[in-house]
Amino acid sequence: MGLRKIIRKGDISLKKKSRTVTEFNARLHILLNDMLETLKDADGVGLAAPQVGVLRRAVIVADISGEEPKYIELINPEIVAEEGEQIGPEGCLSLPNIWGVVTRPEKVTVNAQDRYGEPFTLEAEELLARACCHEIDHLNGVLFDELADRFLSEEEIREMTEGEAE
Ligand code: CO
Repeated sequence: MGLRKIIRKGDISLKKKSRTVTEFNARLHILLNDMLETLKDADGVGLAAPQVGVLRRAVIVADISGEEPKYIELINPEIVAEEGEQIGPEGCLSLPNIWGVVTRPEKVTVNAQDRYGEPFTLEAEELLARACCHEIDHLNGVLFDELADRFLSEEEIREMTEGEAE
């Protein structure tokens, strides 16, 4: 287990399309364990393998709708249905201190595999739906700043983060 370095915007790896995971082996499990540790350490709600320099279709999203965050590993995830619309602030561990207003579906249905290759379906809404869209975009080399309608001002960021602390 170990923390991995989160790469920042400007690194070419973030612009590349990640490859399908075909081997659900120890190497994948080490990557996922490290990604989870890195995500928790950064206090984020999602992390994609390309953000730690591995161009494979693997992400972790955090469901923070309950008391404790629940971390969900999605291997080879695909959005198969979406519903509604949400407009809200979005950030990224690879673009620190930048927040943009991004329109996303309110609900998504994601087909994915777990770390053993077992297929499952995740129904996600609100922030979790946003995280799924954002992380799957990473697997296609897309960053949220390309999708943002506008960026938050420093004052808006301050208000938002103070609100979280309450
Ligand atoms: Co991101």
